[in-house]
Amino acid sequence: MPPPGGSTENAWLVWVERKRRPAAGVHAPPDLLAELKSLVESAGGVVKGGQTQAVASENPATLVGKGTLERLKDTVRENGVDLVVFQNLLRPKQQVLLEKELEVKVLDRREVILDIFAQRARTREGKLQVELAQHSFRLGRLIGGRRELSRLGGGIGTRGPGEKKLEEDRRRIRTQLRQIERELDEVRRTRKIHYQRRKEVGFPVLALVGYTNAGKSTLFNRLTGAKVFVADRLFATLDPTARKVVLPGGKEAILVDTVGFIHDLPDELREAFLATLEGIGEADLLIHVVDGSSERMEDNIASVHKILAALKFHEKPAVMAVNKADLGTAGGRMPEGGIRISAKTGVGLETLIRAVEGGICTPRWGGNGLTKPA
Ligand code: GTP
Repeated sequence: MPPPGGSTENAWLVWVERKRRPAAGVHAPPDLLAELKSLVESAGGVVKGGQTQAVASENPATLVGKGTLERLKDTVRENGVDLVVFQNLLRPKQQVLLEKELEVKVLDRREVILDIFAQRARTREGKLQVELAQHSFRLGRLIGGRRELSRLGGGIGTRGPGEKKLEEDRRRIRTQLRQIERELDEVRRTRKIHYQRRKEVGFPVLALVGYTNAGKSTLFNRLTGAKVFVADRLFATLDPTARKVVLPGGKEAILVDTVGFIHDLPDELREAFLATLEGIGEADLLIHVVDGSSERMEDNIASVHKILAALKFHEKPAVMAVNKADLGTAGGRMPEGGIRISAKTGVGLETLIRAVEGGICTPRWGGNGLTKPA
């Protein structure tokens, strides 16, 4: 999200909810704005503030009504905002009109996540998948937004001057999409061979999984001494990374770090995300890292279990590491069988490693911190 010049962008968050009854008012979902805030910060933006807005009915042109738009304009000016981010999905036409009215860049949650993925992709496959998602997304925007605009400019029934250019742009993007698909096929073939070889080596594979920002990369670094990119941002890891580790009992294993999970992923990214997680399929044991200091801990655990189930990996043995013990809890219940650790200070790691060793040798549910994903 930082513009090409490098300076950060000041963002304002907006969440629009339809009022069920005229007197219902705003049901501010603090969780949603908190999640959007961390996403925007992950993308490199600075959040100046935000608002939730109840509307009786959505304005098809600008989502919010005239009055709200005017007030939003003042907010943008007064707070030096150069980016307004909507939690709601914006239609191309709405985005174009909002940008015109507010005179700043306007994005929705989906685009922020795309931005984060684009910044965090590291392997060739991850980068290609993000490129594919970005191009498909732009194609949609190009068709929806520009067509609306050219109709506004050229009058109903006439082909505006932008139509020919629009056709060319569309064709160019479709050609690029086909090219990326071909490259992806090639990369996927190589990946399959790579996994095959890893399996042939015969070491058990341990995969770190968990909601984004739980501390997987920090734990990975702790356990392997490897210098993997760690940052206080969501999605510090988009692509899996693998290292060999030797457990205290002398057993060797491969530890794999995976991309951070997130709930309600945009359609454009779902496939790319799931493909990135394919590697979990070869894991003998999952280490589910949970941010024990987060107020959203239980929701995040549920999101992770849902994604694992969708991938049919929920039957795999798993150890749950409830991380960030040094920060205390946000009042949530300690998950059953969870092991309290701090990847930062090293607290609880011995217990975790023992459970992992036990899990590899004799996988079982229940005690010893072994938990079965729901
Ligand atoms: P994604 O790649 O986004 O999925 O994140 P991740 O799960 O790999 O998290 P990462 O290791 O990047 O950690 C996220 C943030 O939490 C970083 O700022 C870490 O320094 C911090 N963190 C990780 N473990 C701990 C811990 O035990 N205690 C504290 N206080 N902070 C931690």
